[in-house]
Amino acid sequence: MPEAAIQGAHAMAPIAAYPRELVRTVELKGGRSVRIRPIRPDDEPRLVDLYERLSRDSAYQRFFTIMRHLPSDWYHFFANVDYVRRLALVAERETVGGVQLIGVGRYEPADEPATAEVAFVVEDGWQERGLGAILLEAILDAAAARGIERFRADVLADNHRMLRLFTSRTRIDQRITESGVTALRFRRADAGAPPRSGRAG
Ligand SMILES: CC(C)(COP(=O)(O)OP(=O)(O)OC[C@H]1O[C@@H](n2cnc3c(N)ncnc32)[C@H](O)[C@@H]1OP(=O)(O)O)[C@@H](O)C(=O)NCCC(=O)NCCS
Repeated sequence: MPEAAIQGAHAMAPIAAYPRELVRTVELKGGRSVRIRPIRPDDEPRLVDLYERLSRDSAYQRFFTIMRHLPSDWYHFFANVDYVRRLALVAERETVGGVQLIGVGRYEPADEPATAEVAFVVEDGWQERGLGAILLEAILDAAAARGIERFRADVLADNHRMLRLFTSRTRIDQRITESGVTALRFRRADAGAPPRSGRAG
């Protein structure tokens, strides 16, 4: 998450109203239910907690770097979106200690015009229950509702789970692997043609 993005965010558009229509409860594989909702500024400490609970592998797969703590302005940036150009959806659950975030999916403006960059993380103990797929589809739908139809993502080339999610649930237009990172360009699965099965490119 480059500093340039944080700097650029200060010049962003006014914050739109909180999109309540994106709040919903979903059932995961295994029967547990979690709430999906747009992120809020007060999630900042909950993002810190989520990062601290991530395994080293998951944190590395998400951020491509190993840091004991992320810089504090990153959490502030992540929690404060304008709900149009930048949007994040969180998955939350109630615990005896309060609400805990167990997953985040987000999009940010990419360098290319009319394109958003997406990224996802699900807490280790909640992986493999379908939450990544739910967040992926929800974030692409929310982006489409805001006029964004083209997406990109950088994924470590050995991150087979994330690559599988993208290839099985989106329409891949381009896939380039360089220096261990796979750059994908894609659209929503129902944006004009059926999804491709298996690996693309
Ligand atoms: C990648 C991640 C977001 C996926 O979330 P998740 O909740 O575990 O994902 P789901 O349960 O919805 O789906 C996992 C998919 O990977 C598949 N999968 C699991 N292990 C796999 C493997 N070794 N190789 C290929 N596919 C695999 C599952 O079968 C499933 O696909 P399917 O639904 O088509 O059957 C999550 O694992 C995570 O947070 N990882 C660490 C951070 C990260 O990698 N972020 C991506 C950066 S963009």
